[in-house]
Amino acid sequence: MKNIVIATKNKGKAKEFQSLFQPFHVQVLSLLDLSFEVPDIKETGTTFEENAKIKAEKIASILQTTVLADDSGLIIDALGGRPGVYSARYAGESSSDQDNINKVMNEMNAVLPKDRTARFVSVIAVAVPGQQTFFRKGTCEGEIALTESGTNGFGYDPIFIPVGYKRTMAELSAEEKNNISHRTNALAKLEDWLASNWLKGE
Ligand code: IMP
Repeated sequence: MKNIVIATKNKGKAKEFQSLFQPFHVQVLSLLDLSFEVPDIKETGTTFEENAKIKAEKIASILQTTVLADDSGLIIDALGGRPGVYSARYAGESSSDQDNINKVMNEMNAVLPKDRTARFVSVIAVAVPGQQTFFRKGTCEGEIALTESGTNGFGYDPIFIPVGYKRTMAELSAEEKNNISHRTNALAKLEDWLASNWLKGE
């Protein structure tokens, strides 16, 4: 079975990528599965693309293998696009998911239901040693709930209601989320590359 390394130490994300890659018969390793500690990489970019590129290329050069990195976040229209690239640390450098949710919900307090539109964005960068890094982008449209609910998933899932649903992302099963998520949509755009280049060529 082929391996691909996902440049993340986020257990929730690693789990999602593992199930998203299942149909390709690829073994997905995250940085948590390696036998040595990979240093934390500072996300110094100002766009999802820049951060995904930094993560994928740094780890590919350390491991000398194909590395996929995703940089993702939540864009809320009423907040001018925030938290955006700062989603993971919106309430401060070592903030928890709950701290970040609390900050968003405070800021959204007076925002009317019709103005609560938002989307999750995932930009995937694939770094293959010696080749040019390339990107795929996926989104998942929705709105910010009036109250938090649900315990599945991670991050902002308890306050995000995807278009077409009445439940938050944290109230959907893993399978339901994987059918519609921004990461799934980005990964679907990698299928051509997976099928034609990497799976046959490496
Ligand atoms: P990254 O690890 O720099 O890509 O940070 C992504 C951050 O965006 C996470 O820590 C979450 O706060 C948020 N995020 C990304 N994807 C999701 C998702 O599927 N559900 C909920 N929050 C997400």
